[in-house]
Amino acid sequence: MPPVEPLEATATQGRPGDEISPAGTLRHIAVIMDGNGRWAQARRLPRSFGHRAGSHAVRRTVRAAAEAGMEALTLYAFSCDNWARPQGEVNALMELLQDYLDQESSSCVQEGIRLSVFGRRDRLHPSLLRAIEVAEQRTSMGRRLHLRLAVDYSGRDAILAAVSRCPSGEPLDPEAFQRSIHEASHSPLEIPEVDLIIRTGGEKRLSDFLLWESAYAELYFTDCLWPDFKSRDLTLAIDDFSSRERRFGSVPASANRRPDRCPPPPAA
Ligand code: FPP
Repeated sequence: MPPVEPLEATATQGRPGDEISPAGTLRHIAVIMDGNGRWAQARRLPRSFGHRAGSHAVRRTVRAAAEAGMEALTLYAFSCDNWARPQGEVNALMELLQDYLDQESSSCVQEGIRLSVFGRRDRLHPSLLRAIEVAEQRTSMGRRLHLRLAVDYSGRDAILAAVSRCPSGEPLDPEAFQRSIHEASHSPLEIPEVDLIIRTGGEKRLSDFLLWESAYAELYFTDCLWPDFKSRDLTLAIDDFSSRERRFGSVPASANRRPDRCPPPPAA
């Protein structure tokens, strides 16, 4: 494939990456966009109409996340298990993805949005692969928001693929293993930890999404069906996140403070 020149983004800001956000700060949101089928069924429409409406919600949410100052937004667009859906629905989803990549990469460049796709690539149609590669290269200078689409993705498969790359019998370093997970699923390395996972559509499960990366993510579930998701719904999720106390396995900051009268240490 001939190389595509990355276009200089107009809105660029240097952003650090790759570390856990300090408690209370929100840098990376991931979304399980559920409820497209039910949205369509409620209107007596084919399920593919729900996915099309869902792609409009994607456009709104990307804009809203950038305006809210997020560094990364990860969207679960197509799981490895989604291949089991009827062929017509799979085709509709693949077309929507390709349309999105073809149509949005110019505005992503304008808005400083870097777009990347992670997951398996060996089962995607060559025209979708080409659209992914072009969009990734054109938007590679974007520094305002990193938009990541999970396509043909499985959290379990990503972990298995990373394990199979590790030298057998050697102790595993979590950071090196995380890098291996990113590499195995074609994901760029410089991404902040996932802070918040939103799932729309009322179900409360992860469905094989970011199983390793979600270790300390806050989870937010809403009954809102994905095609109805608006910027105010993102604001509600962000506000809810601000009320959470993140401890990363430690104790609340106040309990960590040394009391005025500290009991003497026990005699040895
Ligand atoms: C789950 O809803 C949603 C999906 C499997 C696909 C998500 C895809 C999009 C939102 C559109 C294309 C994506 C981009 C990035 C342009 P469901 O169909 O399982 O809903 P249901 O539970 O109501 O049946």
